[in-house]
Amino acid sequence: MSEYVLLHDDPIEEGRLAMLSALLDPYMCFRLDLLGVDAGWSYLEVGAGNGSISRWLAGRVGTSGRVVCTDLETSFIDRLASEGISVRQLDIVLDPILQPVNGEGFDLIVARNVLHHLPEHNDVIERLAAALKPGGLLVTMEPDTATLWSTTSPEWLAYWQAFCAWSESRDIDYKLGCSLALRLSRVGLDRVESFSETSMLQGGRDTPTPVVTGFYRDTAIAIGPRMIADGFLSPS
Ligand SMILES: C[S@@+](CC[C@H](N)C(=O)[O-])C[C@H]1O[C@@H](n2cnc3c(N)ncnc32)[C@H](O)[C@@H]1O
Repeated sequence: MSEYVLLHDDPIEEGRLAMLSALLDPYMCFRLDLLGVDAGWSYLEVGAGNGSISRWLAGRVGTSGRVVCTDLETSFIDRLASEGISVRQLDIVLDPILQPVNGEGFDLIVARNVLHHLPEHNDVIERLAAALKPGGLLVTMEPDTATLWSTTSPEWLAYWQAFCAWSESRDIDYKLGCSLALRLSRVGLDRVESFSETSMLQGGRDTPTPVVTGFYRDTAIAIGPRMIADGFLSPS
C-alpha cells in the first residue's frame, strides 16, 4: 500500500477534510456544472477523502447513473454506501483502476488534491485517462503555491517556505497545479483546459473566513511537529 502523510485516524483529519471540502467544493461543483454533468453518467472519484464531491455528483447523475467513490483509506466514505454510492478501497499508484460494470470506461473521473502527494503523478494521470470512455472527462484540481509568495507577513512567508521545503523532502509537490495542463496534454486527451482560482485570506482568531484559516491552522497542527522534528521549522 502507498504511504500517505496524513492518516485518517489522526483525530484532526476528519474535521480538516471537512474544511477542505467547504473551501474547494464550490469551485469544483461550479466547474462540473459547466461541463454538463448529467443523469445516467458513470463517475469515478479517486483519493476522495470524505467523498463530498461523490455525494454531490450522486445527486446529479441520479439512479440511472453510477458513482464509484474510492480512497486509499475508506473510513470517511464507508457511510456513503447507504446512499447508493459504490465505495471501494483503491490505491491509485498500485491497484488497477476500476472499470464500470459495462467495461466501457467512465464518463467522468475526478482526482482532487491527491496527485501532488504522489511522485508517480504522471503515470497515475495516464492510467486515469485510459479508464475513461471515448469522449469522457478527467477533472483534476491540485494546489499551486505561486501566489503565496506575495504575502506581506514574514511569519506566513517563513512558515510556507518551511512547509514547501519539508513537502519536497517527502516528494510532495505543492507547485503541481501550474503544470497540470501540460501533464494532461501529454496523455492523449483531445482537449485540455486549465483554470486557476486564488482565495485571499487573513489570519487571526475572528477573521471573516474561519474555514480557510481553520484548514491552514489544522494542517499546521498536523504537519508542524514533523516539520520541527525534521529541522525545517523552529518551535517558535
Ligand atoms: C488531501 S486529501 C484530499 C481529499 C479529497 N480529494 C478532497 O480534495 O477533499 C488526499 C486524499 O488522497 C488519499 N490518497 C493518498 N494517497 C493515495 C493513493 N495512493 N491512492 C488513493 N488515494 C490516496 C488520502 O487517503 C486522502 O484521503
